[in-house]
Amino acid sequence: SMEAGPLSPLSSPPRLVLTQDELKKIAAYKAVEFVKSGMVIGLGTGSTAKHAVDRIADLLHQGKLKNIIGIPTSKKTHQQALSLGIPLSDLNSHPNVDLAIDGADEVDSDLNLVKGRGGSLLREKMIESACTKFVVIVDESKLVSHIGANGAMPVEVVPFCWKFSQERLQQLFYYSGCMAKLRSNGGENGEPFVTDNGNYIVDLFFKKDIGDLRAASDAILRLPGVVEHGMFLGMATTVIVAGELGVTVKNK
Ligand code: 5RP
Repeated sequence: SMEAGPLSPLSSPPRLVLTQDELKKIAAYKAVEFVKSGMVIGLGTGSTAKHAVDRIADLLHQGKLKNIIGIPTSKKTHQQALSLGIPLSDLNSHPNVDLAIDGADEVDSDLNLVKGRGGSLLREKMIESACTKFVVIVDESKLVSHIGANGAMPVEVVPFCWKFSQERLQQLFYYSGCMAKLRSNGGENGEPFVTDNGNYIVDLFFKKDIGDLRAASDAILRLPGVVEHGMFLGMATTVIVAGELGVTVKNK
């Protein structure tokens, strides 16, 4: 619960300060209230979604949820869910997903998202396009005035000619002051980051608002070598935001 402690008239009121990770957990637990027995559940990726997967496993082991099938959005989440004993499948066997729960890097006021700073955007987009209900879980730091305001917009590209994709992407958004950078794996030799699908990621950084998001999405997807991008437009059915003052549930 989000209740503050008792107020003393003699001292300044105690402030209940939650860490960012506690806020993520609050949002995740709230989302898992939507999970019912018998559902096929898309399991998200990242530090917020991780709490939801933990919670689903707890409820399964307590017998409060039964006959759940999880569809992981990444190899990492697959490993986590497997180690927790959640029954798993994939989109080929279960093309209709009842509910997906996942984090996001940015959320705008129309519930459009940026995802993929963790690198799992392609599987996330496939699974989250295939679900009836898509619940996004974030702490309030993810809320933005417009998409691209707060960091990278990732684009997954075929390695064969990543430079071509990088140059074409940067040109495409020239008037938005776009910088396109190949994501590195963080190692000393600066090797590229490789996705679960064996592709690379080009991160787009914008100096200005990119404007029409649908047009931007279409233009990116038309470039040869682009596999998918991290804008999730009109996909979220619910966004759960945990902040210092409580939890807000926004519906489409
Ligand atoms: C991974 C994602 C994640 O959902 C996104 O990066 C948010 O991660 P976190 O919950 O750790 O902030 O899209 O591809």
